[in-house]
Amino acid sequence: MEIKERRLIPIYIFGKRYEVPEGLTIQKAMEYSGYQFIRSCGCRGGVCGACLTEYRTPKDYRIKMVLACQSLVEPEMQITQSPFIPMRRAQYELEKLKAQPDILGRIYPEIYRCLQCNTCSRVCPMEIPVMEYIACAIRGEIEKVATLSFPCVMCGACVLKCPAEISQPNVALLARRIYGRHILPLSHRLSQRIEEIKQGKYEWVLGRLVQLSTSELMELYTRREQEPQESGHWIPKEINFPENLLREDQ
Ligand code: SF4
Ligand code: SF4
Ligand code: FES
Repeated sequence: MEIKERRLIPIYIFGKRYEVPEGLTIQKAMEYSGYQFIRSCGCRGGVCGACLTEYRTPKDYRIKMVLACQSLVEPEMQITQSPFIPMRRAQYELEKLKAQPDILGRIYPEIYRCLQCNTCSRVCPMEIPVMEYIACAIRGEIEKVATLSFPCVMCGACVLKCPAEISQPNVALLARRIYGRHILPLSHRLSQRIEEIKQGKYEWVLGRLVQLSTSELMELYTRREQEPQESGHWIPKEINFPENLLREDQ
């Protein structure tokens, strides 16, 4: 159905009333109403966390926090956005850190102020058990913090609402960094690929790619072997793509 044929519903953006077609995301409804995004918009696909939006509907006492690109407009909703959430970001040198149980608490001691109110988990648009991963951080369970927080999009909703003023996403980011750098074994394939790059194995193919026109690049791109939705242990059959095709064309 065309947008113009859809029923119009009233919404309020920063307190001002607009009529927008039902079925739009909040982000599209704001654009439809004349807003242009300079901040508060990035991927448009629920990945970057830039579009954190708060709203309230007349029949609900709660203020809800959602990603504007993922949530649909509702009649009479009152919408506001925070284009930037100040979070505490500690400075550290990852290489010098050790995966010790108290490391997260030493760098972010405010985690010990957690009141276990669970507000963070309730507001998280990604439905992450935020309070649980902060509890794991306090207990020094770095791997659990890393895995529980993995879907975090750094939107900052939990930070805004936390009465203990903890910057949860940065605590979790530190845990994922320590986990990746100091706990997980180094990937054999990654080290091999880095070594190949250092030895100049891909210089020829990169040199050829930058010479191609946009249409040639697009054609090459569409001919690639596509990774399935559930990739699991998927390995491409044609591991020399696109070098094989480029050499053939010469
Ligand atoms: S954990 Fe916090 S920053 Fe991450 S997605 Fe949830 S609410 Fe947003
Ligand atoms: S909102 Fe803050 S104080 Fe409440 S459970 Fe989450 S981290 Fe703890
Ligand atoms: S624009 Fe990236 S999550 Fe909404």
